[in-house]
Amino acid sequence: MPDIWGTTRVVGVIGHPVRHSFSPPMQNAAIAALGLDLVYVPFEIAPDDLPDAVRGFRAAGLLGFNATIPHKQALLRLVDHATDEARLTGTVNTVHFTEQGIVGDSTDGPGFVAGLTARGGTVAGARAVLLGAGGSARAVGVSLVRGGVAELVIANRTIDRARALAELLNGQRAGVATAVELDRSAAHLAAAELIVNTTSVGMHPNLDAQPVELPALRPGAWLVDIVYNPLETRLLRQARERGAEALNGVDMLVHQGALSLRRWTGCEPPIEVMREVLVRELQRRAGG
Ligand code: ATR
Repeated sequence: MPDIWGTTRVVGVIGHPVRHSFSPPMQNAAIAALGLDLVYVPFEIAPDDLPDAVRGFRAAGLLGFNATIPHKQALLRLVDHATDEARLTGTVNTVHFTEQGIVGDSTDGPGFVAGLTARGGTVAGARAVLLGAGGSARAVGVSLVRGGVAELVIANRTIDRARALAELLNGQRAGVATAVELDRSAAHLAAAELIVNTTSVGMHPNLDAQPVELPALRPGAWLVDIVYNPLETRLLRQARERGAEALNGVDMLVHQGALSLRRWTGCEPPIEVMREVLVRELQRRAGG
């Protein structure tokens, strides 16, 4: 139990449902390690109650909060200022109450890039392939383009969704993105320096599924699967067998949370503490 005083400030996470969130244990461990007079609390908020909840949180003096499904899009309309990432992805996962108004940010994509670069991966100048074209692909794609990828091939089962995302990203930097059908992506995968799986294929409980069979990969190529349950998907295992650097979704999850905590507190979050608690919690839940 954290010590709670008359001075203790509050942050939290909203969702519907919220009980599966890994953020409370991860963030409270970080808060304890930093010795902050702060507590991170889950709030189950129904979609219709979102505007009231935001007003109430501000009135109650919360520093800010994280948001998960289904609130990320609706929040964009409820903030006074949206960061570039929030505007470009059309989502808010971090709200910060400031004297200048309510700031909405999206730390998912920046968390992805921070996690990858902290592990020694490179975004700037990379030839990259994004598997998937949904909400997660949009967040990662926006940050890859901001991070300076040389080119980004979006490979998706439904080509129209890949085309729509490519168009959005080409609005950020003309000509950077192209679209291809997932089952015609082999040559792009073989040439890529960075491959990111944002599809849900291979996630628990479909452990034997993978979005594509990998061809021979370039020496030194990176494959990041943003799935974190299981910790090693079939796709990651195959990438490692092909000699690639393979990274699961834990780093993205840790770093998106760290960026939120830094925004609220100005403190440098203890990444290793957060990772340790998150992995322990993932393993505990996998064990039932
Ligand atoms: P999220 O917000 O988590 O990204 P999403 O918007 O539902 O979720 O996107 C899911 C992604 O996984 C999509 O790219 C989807 O492909 P389609 O656009 O063709 O639906 C991809 N996906 C899901 N199941 C898939 C499968 N069995 N094979 C290939 N791709 C799949």
